[in-house]
Amino acid sequence: MPKREPRSDETRDKLLAAARAAMRNAHAPYSNFKVGAALLTTTGEIFAGCNVENASYGMTNCAERTAIFSAVASLGPKMEIAAIAIVNDHNAPCAPCGACRQVIYEFGPKAVVHFLGAKFLGRKSWKTMPITELLPEGFRLK
Ligand code: THU
Repeated sequence: MPKREPRSDETRDKLLAAARAAMRNAHAPYSNFKVGAALLTTTGEIFAGCNVENASYGMTNCAERTAIFSAVASLGPKMEIAAIAIVNDHNAPCAPCGACRQVIYEFGPKAVVHFLGAKFLGRKSWKTMPITELLPEGFRLK
């Protein structure tokens, strides 16, 4: 029997679970806003990360970039992001910040991003958007 392709909401839920697990390791004593992210590579591997803050606030690394840098450290710079999911411990709407959008685009120009959008009729709602919609005209050197 041919292997069944996973449905996209199954993939999203798997990434959300991995992102939630990583979120528990966040170092966020300054903002008290823990974030977790998990990405799926085009070769089917999952990498997760959390935000890591610093007393010198500007040194903070977002969860998305922690996950991406971990994937690059393990697979090398040719790894490509197929999808990335982001969660936070406030259940707050949380699309990736501008810096992370540029880094997602570098390693996943065709990536889709799963994140918590603004509440709709008082209910939280997951959004899935291509990175090119979140970051039109992303920067490339070539
Ligand atoms: N943060 C992330 O990890 N990812 C985002 O997409 C937005 C912000 C972190 C950075 C900081 O540690 C905390 O959330 C509050 O800004």
